[in-house]
Formats: sequence, structure tokens, C-alpha cells
Amino acid sequence: EKGGYDHFMLKEIYEQPRSVGDCLRGRIYPDRGLVQLGGIKEYAEKLKNIDRIIIVACGTSWHAGLVGEYLIEEYARVPVEVEYASEFRYRNPIITEKDVVIAISQSGETADTMAAIELAKERGATIFGICNVVGASIPRLSHAGVYTHAGPEIGVASTKAFTAQVTALTMLAFYTAQQRGAITESKLIEYLTELNNIPALIQKTFAANDHIKTISEEYKDASNCLFLGRGSSFPVALEGALKLKEISYIHAEGYPAAEMKHGPIALIDADMPVVFIATQNSSYEKVISNIQEVKARGGRVIAIVTEGDTIVRDMAEHTIEIPEVSEAFVPLLATIPLQLLSYHIAVLRGCNVDQPRNLAKSVTVE
Ligand code: F6R
Repeated sequence: EKGGYDHFMLKEIYEQPRSVGDCLRGRIYPDRGLVQLGGIKEYAEKLKNIDRIIIVACGTSWHAGLVGEYLIEEYARVPVEVEYASEFRYRNPIITEKDVVIAISQSGETADTMAAIELAKERGATIFGICNVVGASIPRLSHAGVYTHAGPEIGVASTKAFTAQVTALTMLAFYTAQQRGAITESKLIEYLTELNNIPALIQKTFAANDHIKTISEEYKDASNCLFLGRGSSFPVALEGALKLKEISYIHAEGYPAAEMKHGPIALIDADMPVVFIATQNSSYEKVISNIQEVKARGGRVIAIVTEGDTIVRDMAEHTIEIPEVSEAFVPLLATIPLQLLSYHIAVLRGCNVDQPRNLAKSVTVE
């Protein structure tokens, strides 16, 4: 049932070209520059007049929400707030009928996320659910929504569900942009053409697997690890750190790269690997200076870079290449090597990657 893989987690990592493809199927029409999200079409008009979007979720799904924030604000120009469901539900949030609340959940059964929906609904908001499990409680509580169609996820640490959530949010960003006239048709054609090709590019990222395994051997005994990124790669860094913590029990922190000098820089030494997402996007130069800051303090750097990059290669101990894509799609590719890195490190440490200690697949108690 693991399809020849040693663990469900690895199988699910390798399923991502398929799962992202399934999430996109029938929803994007690159030739026509059109996104169609059947599950929320009754609210297409409403999206024209909303004042803001609030995203509520927990854990990995919250990280997907943070990627969504960057994408929705950038392309649809709607203000977005991303909240931990557990905090949102207990702090008497200000919500109006003009708000759309997006609840993101793989399982669709997370207690805090359900309670956040109920509260927002009582206060008149429109609720969209982004969920993987069809017919689960969260889609039933929502007014409308988008299923991620990643297929059943068995590994406790979320992998393919995360990339499918990010895919759904990417489509939602372009859909909202389209409804609000915030993007031109030619730009949409361009982006959707690229999005349509993402499954094939995810497949290409697997070429680095053996290299990542070799890197993992060198770092498997670390007790701490820092993950840094900027822009939409910041939530990717958070997710990279969470994966490593969950399955390898190595303490890891994700930070916006620029925040490093406000504290975590004190931790840097040769024993703490620093993982950067350093692809060639708008923040590339800034990330390079952050890498220099780490190097100057004797830190060892593993960097996710754009294919063919030589600048970061000359600075970092190790680089892992991903194909070149527009900034909007970097999270979908940069996440994959980080999943593989956690996986190999955990396996080398003899951990139970599919069922890490103390964790449950769905958290139905608050
Ligand atoms: C991490 C992980 C958890 C879940 C969180 C929310 O790998 O799986 O952090 O993301 O418990 O679960 P869902 O998405 O089912 O609401």
C-alpha cells in the first residue's frame, strides 16, 4: 500500500506532481486566461465588494494561509489577515458581513478551526472552506469552498496536503483578482500557463533527492536548525522548520531572514545548520546579505536556489536547485526539497516518520 516506498511520507512527497495536478484539474484554463472555482461561484459577485479576507487555520494549514496572504494581497489587492484559529476564537475578533473568512484544514475536523468558523458565521461573515477530506465537518460548516483533492494523506506530517492547499489558494488569488479586475487577461494567461506546468516542475525537483540525502548525512546529528526566507518564502521556512521538528525531533525555527539579526543570530555557530530559501526573486539580493551575515559568524548554510545559480553556490556549504519560476510559484517548488531534507534526516536518525511521537493526524480536541 506504500506503493514501493519505505514510508507513506515519502510516497506522498512523490505524489505531489499528481496531487497538485488533481487540485488544478478543471479549474484553470490557461488559453482563455480563466480560473473557475465551481465551489465558490455563487460568491463570485460578493468577492468584488469585500473589504478583507481573514484566513484561519492551525499548524501546516496556517503556513499555507500565510502563503495565501502574500498571493491574495499581491494579485487580488484585498487585505488579508492570517490567524491561528485557537487565538482567533478566543479574542472577540471584529468581523462584519463584508468579511470573507477562509478556513484551511486538511482533515476538516480540527476543533479550533471549527470553533473559529462558528464564531465568524454567527457574526455574519461568509465562510469558505479549503479542505482535503470530502464531506468532513469543516466543508459542511462552510458556505462554500474548494476541495484540495490531494487524496488521502496517511503520513502524520502533512506534505501533499500542504502543496495542494497552496495550489488552491493560488487559484483563489487569481480568481479573486479576475473577479475584481485587478489583473489583466494577458497576465492571467501568463500566470495560468505557468501554474499549469507546476506539476511537471515539481517532478523535476526530485532530481535533487540523492544530493539531499547526502546533505542529510552531514547534518543528521544537529540539535538545532534555523530556516530563513523572505516574502512568500518566509512561510515556506516556517513549514520547513515544522517538518524537521515533527519527524526528526531536531529543534528548528523558521524566521523571516531579516529578523535573524534581531535575536536568533546569537545562536549561529558551526553546529547549527541554517537553511535559506534563496531563489532569484525580488528579495534575492537581500537574502544574499543575510547569508553573508551567517557566514561571517561561522554558520553553515544549506540554500535552496534557482537552477544555475552560481552566486549563492559560491557562498553556501550546499545548494539545492529548483527550476526557475515566477515568484508566485516558488512556494510550491521550494517546499519539496525541504520535505525531503526532513524525511532523510528523520530516517537516518531512526525516527518513525509516518507516526511521530505525541502527534495525531487530526486534532479534534482543543
Ligand atoms: C503538521 C500537521 C499539523 C496540521 C494541523 C492542522 O504536519 O499536519 O500541523 O496541519 O494539525 O490540521 P488540519 O489541516 O487537518 O486542520
